[in-house]
Amino acid sequence: MVNDIVLETWTKSGETTGLIRHRNDEDTKPLHAYRSQVLVISMIFSVLIITFLMSVIDFWIDDDQFVQSQHAIVKNKDHLAMKNREYFYQCAPIVSCDYSDKYRTSNGTCNNPNNPIWGSSNTPFIRLVDAHYSDGISKLRTSSDGEPLPSAREIQVKLFLNKQIRIPDKNNQLLMQWGQFVAHDVSNLAIDTNGEDCCTNKNELGVSRACEASIKIPIDDPVYSKYNITCMRFTRAMTSNNYSCPLQPLTFIDDASHFIDGSQIYGSNDYVVSKLRSFTGGTLISVLDNNQEFCPRSSFNSSDTNKYLYNSGDSRANLNLGIALFHNMFLRFHNYVAFKLKIENSLWSDEKLYQESRRFVGAIIQHITYTQFLPIILGKNYTKDEVLYGNNKYDPTVNPSTSQEFSTGAFRVLHNIIPAQHRFIDSNYTTVKIVNVTDWMNCPYLLQQGSNYDQLLRGLLSTEGRLSQPSYNPLNTISMLTYLPGNIASIFE
Ligand code: HEM
Repeated sequence: MVNDIVLETWTKSGETTGLIRHRNDEDTKPLHAYRSQVLVISMIFSVLIITFLMSVIDFWIDDDQFVQSQHAIVKNKDHLAMKNREYFYQCAPIVSCDYSDKYRTSNGTCNNPNNPIWGSSNTPFIRLVDAHYSDGISKLRTSSDGEPLPSAREIQVKLFLNKQIRIPDKNNQLLMQWGQFVAHDVSNLAIDTNGEDCCTNKNELGVSRACEASIKIPIDDPVYSKYNITCMRFTRAMTSNNYSCPLQPLTFIDDASHFIDGSQIYGSNDYVVSKLRSFTGGTLISVLDNNQEFCPRSSFNSSDTNKYLYNSGDSRANLNLGIALFHNMFLRFHNYVAFKLKIENSLWSDEKLYQESRRFVGAIIQHITYTQFLPIILGKNYTKDEVLYGNNKYDPTVNPSTSQEFSTGAFRVLHNIIPAQHRFIDSNYTTVKIVNVTDWMNCPYLLQQGSNYDQLLRGLLSTEGRLSQPSYNPLNTISMLTYLPGNIASIFE
């Protein structure tokens, strides 16, 4: 393309014609008339050959360096893996496995016969790189002069455009919703606060370990200063210490089973699983309302009948309307599969129907994630070559745990594509309602009214998503919005 343009310009300016004419002129001269040109050309050739030889040598040296650096990475990996193994040496419980059992355990144990605890719930996230605490153990990282790092909010305000620019994506909002659903399947960093509110006491920052990561809001903040808010609640997560395993440096624990296995629907331990199962026909407990099936409600001590939350396998099932919808959708899907299996296999027990349905649902989640979701996020070719086929082969010596870096960094990048609003679309494809995502956090009752469930699902399906972009997204301040009373989201509009 570029060459075409260059050629065209040349032709237009007449240079192409000029060159041809020149060559024709010279063809008529005797050979000795070229002596000086031949000399110049051979000098140029010598320089080119020397340059070529030097670059070949350079390439060899570089290649060598590349090989050496690869070794360094591999060596480093071994070193880190040793640290990652500390929990397994010091604290991991001994599990006994029944390898004749064809189904996954609820907590993810027994997937790997040589290391049956790997990837199971309540085991640490692995680290891909070393922890970097200022005291080497647990204190927050500081800048090179020992001062605290700048406030995350200050950086956010300086780096991002302070307004929402809506650039639609060609993918619909289901892309975001699937991401959150899978995130909750493989990762759950439990909060460590014991109910302490890190931003109370006249907005003074708390000082306990749990509160030391609270985010200071600059007094001239373009948004919060109007509301005299100078502290954003941000708590540190539970560590192995909370699980009677004092490891140093701090080691964070994943409450979910690390595998993509539908644990957000079924629960990551037998206790939760048993609370959600009906123990008849392989189904999960559900309630019928207005002839529609929904997740059971968790008991909630309130006179307001609208203040209920759904019970599901993951505590974040009510965080936003979209994730609540997904939990209800997969409850329905599980029960539908169990119902169908029962028709075909009338002699199957409740246990068999439950496990087979769960196995089916888990496989569907893996399939959608790897064939539909990841190609959009990572690119089709990369997913094909590096994730599905090619270099990516099952290796039983690799710990399959979710990494700290993935959970607290990489996968949260997609918070950037959370839309500010959800559309409710009726069966005629008319938008009947638009709601702010942040108005309905931890408050899912809207879903259950009238045809809202169907309409929100249609909305996610037929509304273009938000393209990842460096503009301000009201939901970048998500942690705070989740906990602040009232409708603070409206201040971002
Ligand atoms: C409306 C949509 C969403 C909301 C309201 C939401 C909200 C949150 C909140 C409040 C946290 C805890 C933050 C903290 O205090 O550290 C969190 C964590 C997280 N989010 Fe989201 N999120 C949404 C969508 C997504 C999406 C689309 C993804 C990825 C595709 C994602 C990935 C994660 C991950 C990996 C974590 C850490 C989970 C853990 O280990 O506990 N979230 N999200």
